[in-house]
Amino acid sequence: MRFNILSALFVVIFASNLFAQTATIPADAKARTAPFVFSTESKDRGDKVYQANCKSCHGDVGKANYAKLVPIPKDPASPEYQKNTDGEMFYILSNGKGLLMPTFVNTLTEEQRWDVIAYVRSFNKDYTQPPVKAAGESVKTETAKMALGYDLNSKKLWAMVTDSGSGTKKPLSDVTIKLFVKRTFGNLPITQAVTSNLGVAYFDLPADIPGDSLGNILLIARTTGSNNELTSSLTEKLGVVTKPKLLLDQRAWWSVNKMAPIWLILLYLAGIAGIGATVLYILLQLRKIKKLNDSKS
Ligand code: HEC
Repeated sequence: MRFNILSALFVVIFASNLFAQTATIPADAKARTAPFVFSTESKDRGDKVYQANCKSCHGDVGKANYAKLVPIPKDPASPEYQKNTDGEMFYILSNGKGLLMPTFVNTLTEEQRWDVIAYVRSFNKDYTQPPVKAAGESVKTETAKMALGYDLNSKKLWAMVTDSGSGTKKPLSDVTIKLFVKRTFGNLPITQAVTSNLGVAYFDLPADIPGDSLGNILLIARTTGSNNELTSSLTEKLGVVTKPKLLLDQRAWWSVNKMAPIWLILLYLAGIAGIGATVLYILLQLRKIKKLNDSKS
């Protein structure tokens, strides 16, 4: 009986492994490169991340002492593991693989994920890092600018990132831009897009964003990155017309009493009057007792 359950489990694991093998990594993810040059510091940071998050399964790098799982978590120093491109590693690390390789998209920052790759690559003597794309870097310069606009013809919201550092304006590609809508208590993230080689990114807006009484919404675009982010904002009639609701219109607890129904006010006043009458009655009785006492003595 137990044997049957075990073999069934193995069949499931093998089958899911087959599916995992056929799930291919998108070409642009494969070609993706680290946004910074791997250095001793990034390697050392990656070492710490590896020991805390990967060692339990992948073992010590170069020692082939990985956990006995099916499929095996390869030793990161092995040629089979190293033949992945940086982009493939980043993709697998972010999205997981098969049943057992976890996704780290929520637990490790992008920088930490690239740091681990820097660490793992330090065990490969034949590895040379592909050139870091200038675009990601140039956003950090002081001469980069972002424009945000709405094209009435194509009905598309666009953002354009350019850099005028070298004297001429040149578009920056591969810049990730996040789009937010301003709400009462902060910015609500809506979507994100990456600039093309013309430096332009187009956003797909949901059609049901509540706007003000004219349908206006305040859109905010922000480049992602750890420093010198660019932001740009735009008010456009792209929202759903919404009748503004005043907070005092509703019968909230802070609402003024003119909003209260008449019967509630009367009941309240009657209550107050009742309490007052009771207090008055007690005081009168006390005076009566005192008078009685005075007349006796
Ligand atoms: C719970 C165990 C476990 C943990 C923790 C884990 N892995 Fe894995 N990893 C696996 C398994 C199992 C595979 C093989 C998956 C497959 O081939 O379907 C794998 C595969 C991979 C691959 C693909 C290798 C290849 O060539 O197919 C990469 C890259 C990888 N892991 C990196 C990491 C990194 C980096 C960490 C730490 C941040 C990590 N893993 C943490 C179990 C784990």
